[in-house]
Amino acid sequence: MPRIILILGGGIAAYKVLDIARELRREGMEVIPVMTEAARQFVTPLSLEVLCGNPVHGELFRPGQESEIGHIALARSADLILVCPATANLMSRMAHGMADDLATTLLLATEAPILLAPAMNPHMWSHPATQANLSLLEQRGVRCVGPSHGNVACGETGTGRLAESDKILAAVRSSLAKATDLAGRKVIVTAGPTVEPLDPVRFISNYSSGLQGYAIAGALAARGADVRLVSGPVSLPTPPSVRRIDVRTAEEMKAACLEQLPVDAVICVAAVSDWRPESVSDRKMKKSVDGPPTLILRENPDILATLSHIETRPALVVGFAAETDDLQNHAEQKRHRKGCNWLLANDVSKHHFGGHRNQVLFLTETGTEEWPEMDKSALAERLAEQIVAFFQKQG
Ligand code: CTP
Repeated sequence: MPRIILILGGGIAAYKVLDIARELRREGMEVIPVMTEAARQFVTPLSLEVLCGNPVHGELFRPGQESEIGHIALARSADLILVCPATANLMSRMAHGMADDLATTLLLATEAPILLAPAMNPHMWSHPATQANLSLLEQRGVRCVGPSHGNVACGETGTGRLAESDKILAAVRSSLAKATDLAGRKVIVTAGPTVEPLDPVRFISNYSSGLQGYAIAGALAARGADVRLVSGPVSLPTPPSVRRIDVRTAEEMKAACLEQLPVDAVICVAAVSDWRPESVSDRKMKKSVDGPPTLILRENPDILATLSHIETRPALVVGFAAETDDLQNHAEQKRHRKGCNWLLANDVSKHHFGGHRNQVLFLTETGTEEWPEMDKSALAERLAEQIVAFFQKQG
C-alpha cells in the first residue's frame, strides 16, 4: 500500500483537499495528514482525520508521538509527499531549507518524491520571488501540478487556482509509478568539467557547470535507478539517492567509469578536456627571462567512445555534443564516430555553458528530433522518459 504524506498549507483551497484525500484512500493509498498552523484556520483537523483514517500530525515535538514515530522516521516512511495546497509561504520556506514546523521538517528530511499543488493569488504566483523559488525546487527534482487559470477566491482572475482534483490525482499516480520505472537499473552519468593540471596552482579546464548532468542523475534516481554520478569539480549539491564519485582529470573519470561496469546505461554529459599537458610540474612554474613556457599537449582518452566499444558495453550509451556550427551534420558524424545509441547536440554559441536552459537535437539510430528550448531539469525529465521507454521496449 503506497504511503502518502499529505501536507496541507494554509489557503482557502484547503477545503478541496478533503475530496482528494478521500479519493487517494479509495484508490488504496495510506494517507498521513500533516497540517501547518495556518491550514487549521481553513479546515478542521477532525474532518481531515476522519477522511484520511489517520491522525493529523501538526506539531514538531508532540509528547508521546515523537518517541513513538519521530518526524525523521515519518519522513523516511513515505513513498510520496503531496503538498496541497502549496502556498507561496510554504514554497519559500521549502526553497530555503527552513525546518521551523513539522511540515517543513518532513520536507527537508525526506528522500521521497515531492509533488506540489500550488494555490495562491495570481500576483503572488507570478511574483519573481515565487517563480525563483519554484525554479529552485524544480531543479532539486520537486514536481509541480498546476496552478490553473481562472477565478480565485479573492475575486481576481489569473493563474493561481488549485489544479483540478483529477489532475492532482493523476500526478500522484504518475509520481508513484515513476518512482519504480528504472528500479533495478544501474546507470553511470558523467558530469561537469575535467581539470588537467599544469602545476600545483594552474590547470586547463572549461566552463561546464555540471547542471545538466546533475539534473539527469537526479531524474534517473527519482525513477528508482541506481545512479553513479562521476563528477568533475562543480559546486552543486548531490541529488537525492545518487552516489557521487568525485574526479578531477579525464584519466580519473575514465577509470571511475570503468570501475562501475557492468551497468545498463551510461549518459556522458561531462565536458571532458580534450587535451592535457604532457607533463605536470610538481612545483609552481616560475616566469623566466626566456619568455612564457611552451605547452605540449597530449590527447585525453575519449570516455564515451571507450564505453561504446568496450566488450561489456552497456545496452544504452548516450552522449552530448557541444557544437558551434553546422549542428546536425557535426552531430550525426559524432554519433557514428563515438558509437553511441543517442546523441543530444546543442549549439553552445546560443546556449552558453553554465546557463539554466538548453535546446538540443535528439539523434537516435532512427532519426533526429528537434526538442524545444527548455529548462535543464525539464530536459532531464524528457531524456529520462526516453530511457524508461528504451528499457520497457527491451523488456
Ligand atoms: N567525451 C568523452 N571523452 C572525451 C571527450 C568527450 O567522454 N575525451 C564525451 C562528452 O561527455 C560528450 C561527447 O563525448 O558526451 C561529445 O563531446 P564533445 O566535446 O562535443 O566532442 P569531442 O569529442 O570533444 O569532439 P570535438 O571537440 O571535435 O567537437
